[in-house]
Amino acid sequence: MNSTYDFGMIGLGVMGRNFLLNVADHGFSAAGLDLDPEKARALDEESGDKPVKGTTNTAEFVAMLRRPRKIMLLVPAGKPVDSVIESLLPHLDKGDLIIDGGNSHFEDTNRRTEYMKMKGMQFLGVGVSGGSEGARRGPSIMPGGNLESYQLVGPILEAVSAKVNGAPCVAYLGNTSAGHYTKMVHNGIEYGLMQLIAEAYDILKNIGGLSNQELHEVFSQWNEGALESFLIEITADIFTERDDKGDGWLVDKILDKAKQKGTGKWTSQNAMDLGIGIPTIDAAVTMRGLSALKMERKQAAPHYTRSIEDTPAVNKEQVIIQVGEALHFAFIITYAQGMHLLAEASEEYGYGLDLKTVAKIWRGGCIIRAELLEDMHQAYQEQPALRSLLLSPAFHESLLHSQHAARAILKTAIDFGVPTMALSSALAYFDAYRSERLPLNLVQAQRDYFGSHTYERVDKEGVFHTEW
Ligand code: 6PG
Repeated sequence: MNSTYDFGMIGLGVMGRNFLLNVADHGFSAAGLDLDPEKARALDEESGDKPVKGTTNTAEFVAMLRRPRKIMLLVPAGKPVDSVIESLLPHLDKGDLIIDGGNSHFEDTNRRTEYMKMKGMQFLGVGVSGGSEGARRGPSIMPGGNLESYQLVGPILEAVSAKVNGAPCVAYLGNTSAGHYTKMVHNGIEYGLMQLIAEAYDILKNIGGLSNQELHEVFSQWNEGALESFLIEITADIFTERDDKGDGWLVDKILDKAKQKGTGKWTSQNAMDLGIGIPTIDAAVTMRGLSALKMERKQAAPHYTRSIEDTPAVNKEQVIIQVGEALHFAFIITYAQGMHLLAEASEEYGYGLDLKTVAKIWRGGCIIRAELLEDMHQAYQEQPALRSLLLSPAFHESLLHSQHAARAILKTAIDFGVPTMALSSALAYFDAYRSERLPLNLVQAQRDYFGSHTYERVDKEGVFHTEW
């Protein structure tokens, strides 16, 4: 067996196969391993004349690869990653590089980095975003680990990644789990944006009375302006899909229970650990949980019917404009929350993340790619140490302007009883962040009252306690 293949992939699901075909498109030879012979065969069939070979045999796979071997794993996060690593280790040589390209929890990545180092191997934790289409045509790639390990595989990742104005949507982000942490926050933002879009849909449909055709038109129009983004684009498309199993539109036939694989929840959990508020992402995770309680919601619904008489008359055109501006407002706030978390985590975990680079590689290929990221990239370019996007002059004017629409449409939604957990949390976050004085002085007083937890004063240094 000639050890000539440049790159190996373990896990030949659609993502893995597409990624390998993409690698081969860029002049690299690529070997794939999957224990399922169907998948290995599918790779061989799809690759045609390209220098790509699939196998079900680990020893054969490893022997095909040029040393130091570069092997990416695209297998489900959690135990499968550990078992693939274990099955691979006896076949590897010192210095070989394993690249975990799945949505692994960043703490697992820290553990595996140490473990692989102990075994004399190299390891990178790499976030890959863009779904199967992204993997084929150009994903956004978020690598973390040793810089030298990244350099081994950097040219391949740069070649296969999405490009924006010629710039690759991949860059070395930092040590250990910097890449997987960044991907986790990417997914948290993804959850937030998706929930905001769902709420916009609810308002437009149930308050504005828009048909699916009209929803398609409105989202398409938004995608031509400040809201231009992948998620708005696919949402516009979704409203045009007819049901292939019956009459009407597919979107109306889909059960309103959203599943989750965990990355959004991890983002919220870790933000709580670090003491950073990301309420719009939290709201999105919460809403997935509430959506799952379909039976309970069905039981509750008849007891709390919405009274149509209490709802005000609305102007459809105005509702569309307000929802669009409110979405723009809440999108910025959601990115701001995610970026803020990244800034804090980078300090806490010593990642050395450069947020300008993060914004740059998110401009293309990934699920949260959006025109707005261009402005964010510039904001961090101008102020590399920016704590929050809300502090950047680049966003002052648009937030000041669009907050009015957010307030107006939220009032209407509240009157109609349409749930807006994410949208209202975005406005509340904005109102809290811009408040020089919050009422938490009272919380401190209460803590001191019942637990002698002490408080600080606005006019004197030191720590105080009162016998209340
Ligand atoms: C991406 C996506 C991808 C995946 C999500 C779905 O960036 O390409 O985020 O990673 O589709 O993990 O997450 P849920 O199943 O939790 O919605």
